[in-house]
Amino acid sequence: MSVSIVVGAQWGDEGKGKIIDVLSENASAVLRYQGGANAGHTVYIGEQKYVLHLIPSGILRPDVVCFIGDGVVLDPIAYQEELDVLHKAGIRTEGRLWVSPRTHIILPYHKRLDMCAEKRKGKKKIGTTGRGIGPAYMDKYSRMGLRAIDLLNEPIRRERILQNLEMKNFLLTSYYEETPLDPEDILQQAAACADILKPYVRETIPDLAEMNAKGRHLLIEGAQGAMLDIDYGSYPYVTSSHPVAGGTFTGSGLGVYSGGDMRLLGVAKAYLTRVGNGPFPTELDDETGRMLRDRGNEYGATTGRPRRCGWLDLVALKYSCLVNGLTHLAITKLDVLDGFDTLNVAVAYQYKGRRLDFFPADLQAQEEVTPVYKSFKGWQKDTSTCREYDDLPDAARAYLAYIAEFLGIPVHIVSTGQRRDQIIFV
Ligand code: IMP
Repeated sequence: MSVSIVVGAQWGDEGKGKIIDVLSENASAVLRYQGGANAGHTVYIGEQKYVLHLIPSGILRPDVVCFIGDGVVLDPIAYQEELDVLHKAGIRTEGRLWVSPRTHIILPYHKRLDMCAEKRKGKKKIGTTGRGIGPAYMDKYSRMGLRAIDLLNEPIRRERILQNLEMKNFLLTSYYEETPLDPEDILQQAAACADILKPYVRETIPDLAEMNAKGRHLLIEGAQGAMLDIDYGSYPYVTSSHPVAGGTFTGSGLGVYSGGDMRLLGVAKAYLTRVGNGPFPTELDDETGRMLRDRGNEYGATTGRPRRCGWLDLVALKYSCLVNGLTHLAITKLDVLDGFDTLNVAVAYQYKGRRLDFFPADLQAQEEVTPVYKSFKGWQKDTSTCREYDDLPDAARAYLAYIAEFLGIPVHIVSTGQRRDQIIFV
């Protein structure tokens, strides 16, 4: 089997959806291994825009099978909403979309607790998507969660939910000073969630083993990005899962895949964005930042929030290459940089009079570093019509060549627009 793992190499929103959509043309299956409906993968097919939050982007290719792996936290209500959109667009999901029985479930109380925790943190809030991600992973790791298979088992579902609600209601009323949840109401909602998921829950591990035996191509789709990883990201301003490529080993059911071909593709924007709070050394709170936001249409695909924008940060990206073990890079949204006179790229940081070449673990340092920039000449040509690497202006090729050299890995794909055909394979 050949496996391509496609992960976000920055703070999410790198344009993974489009890259996965393009690559899935040659894949038998696409698998999601972490996160939940906090993701927003935007794919354009012609003029039609699809935003997928939970279901792998491969669903848009009729012959591709999609798996939701064990490391995901799945909100059945968000899942149903997404199914409705797909079905309305004539996209079939029956018999080609499978949810692992071990996938943990997000119930309405997780979303409520997510909001309460954020409200309580006040100014120090993380700026979550409010999709219940953190509370669902908390339940999973404190061994209180419900997996898809538990949701489908009525007595287990009932017992686990009632047990959970004892603690959740204590938290809601005594700590957050909110109204409690009604157990009967939650049990009813959970029963409806079970009905939604029932046709889709099936062991995914034997399917993956069969694909392996038949030498098929599997594409693994990451959500968010390495800088939001619970272990490697800008903690505590992170998500609660493992967006790094290592997360696939526990979140997919594939194990430590060592047979055959494996490619680890990191997706990075030609500049940088972040939604939510937390450090962002190269953030531009000025006209240039606003230009990047307008030209790049930088608004969250899940929450609609304006994204914070800044220059490409190669210190953070180099760190991301290391913690992911990337073998190849995809650079997206290069066209957004068309027309700038000068482009800056962070190649180091200054902190307390010292030069830092490695992304620091210390939150205070992450917040207080000053980037050391290398400047590049911009280009005045429209790159969105370029289809070959050699069509790109010299200055754009110099920019890309520097990125590859700095990171020590090749740029394999360059995306220059939202459409499927606006792509260059290097
Ligand atoms: P959560 O994943 O909703 O708990 O949010 C935690 C942090 O991750 C917040 O800063 C969110 O804005 C950020 N985040 C979560 N999902 C995405 C994503 O798909 N793209 C970009 N940022 C994300």
